[in-house]
Amino acid sequence: MTTKMPVILDVDTGIDDALAILYALFSPRLQVLGITTCFGNGDVLNTTRNTLAMVEMAQVSVPVYQGAADPLVGKWAPQGEAFHGENGLGNAPIKKPVTSPKTLSAPDYLRAAILDRPGEVTVVTLARLTNLAIALNSAPNLAQKIRRVVVMGGAAFVGGNVTPVSEANIWGDPDAAWVVFHSGMPITMVGLDVTMQVNISDAQVQKLDPDRPYTKIMRQALDFYLSAYNPGVSSGTRQAPLHDPLAVAVAEDPTLCTTSDLSVDIEREGTITRGMTVVDQRGWLDLTPNVAVCRSVDAPRFLRNFCERLGFPMALD
Ligand code: BDR
Ligand code: CA
Repeated sequence: MTTKMPVILDVDTGIDDALAILYALFSPRLQVLGITTCFGNGDVLNTTRNTLAMVEMAQVSVPVYQGAADPLVGKWAPQGEAFHGENGLGNAPIKKPVTSPKTLSAPDYLRAAILDRPGEVTVVTLARLTNLAIALNSAPNLAQKIRRVVVMGGAAFVGGNVTPVSEANIWGDPDAAWVVFHSGMPITMVGLDVTMQVNISDAQVQKLDPDRPYTKIMRQALDFYLSAYNPGVSSGTRQAPLHDPLAVAVAEDPTLCTTSDLSVDIEREGTITRGMTVVDQRGWLDLTPNVAVCRSVDAPRFLRNFCERLGFPMALD
């Protein structure tokens, strides 16, 4: 029997986070040690509630730890509603979870779990990097104890999705992203360069296996998500990106993406570039590369795995 890879997911659930949670929990290769929550697609109470609801719908037992309510600097402001709805899951009627988050905070849990298994734990961040930055700031050498962080975030060679140059998870707390990107830990960046290449369609959503416990909620949530990404397009021909599931998939199987080792910094102050992942493409700064940047993805292979595991049909008819 092969041993499973221990991972912690950091989420702001979120429609694509919800799919990523299912993808990770049903993985034959990942052992999800815990899930930490952050503000982002909703306030942190909302994203925690959605996370608990998804874990319950997956019918597994994994501890959930509530984390940051605000970025390192400033206050959270509602922001993801256009894509994720007021309740973060496309306004689908989510049942009140029967489980609760653990009493330990997300950053405290991250620190404890990583120090407990030095060099073993992969952290997959699907949200702002606030929880991980707080954990890093609280423990010197924590960065050296993490096996790798796989970050869904950034836009290396493509445009942004909240500003012309910035992606939401970096833009939402650039100070936290700066801490992580300067920490020295191994980082894989699964940015918009690759996540915009993996899409789910109307036909697939409509034909989601009717017997899964999450089918009703995820069909409704995904209908909202498809509308948000395709304003004015009638249902039947829409598609939308699977950002967060792809990051989990890359943690599970790094061969899904080609990468380039590059020096990447985070713009924290620019008036029109705040939250930009600045790539030193031509080596001007003469720095040692700090990030494996995903450049291309085997989309058919990822989609085949994703559809099989979650009960979506692969045929795009
Ligand atoms: C990222 O931002 C969030 O809205 C999504 O859940 C994803 O993590 C995409 O930019
Ligand atoms: Ca997310």
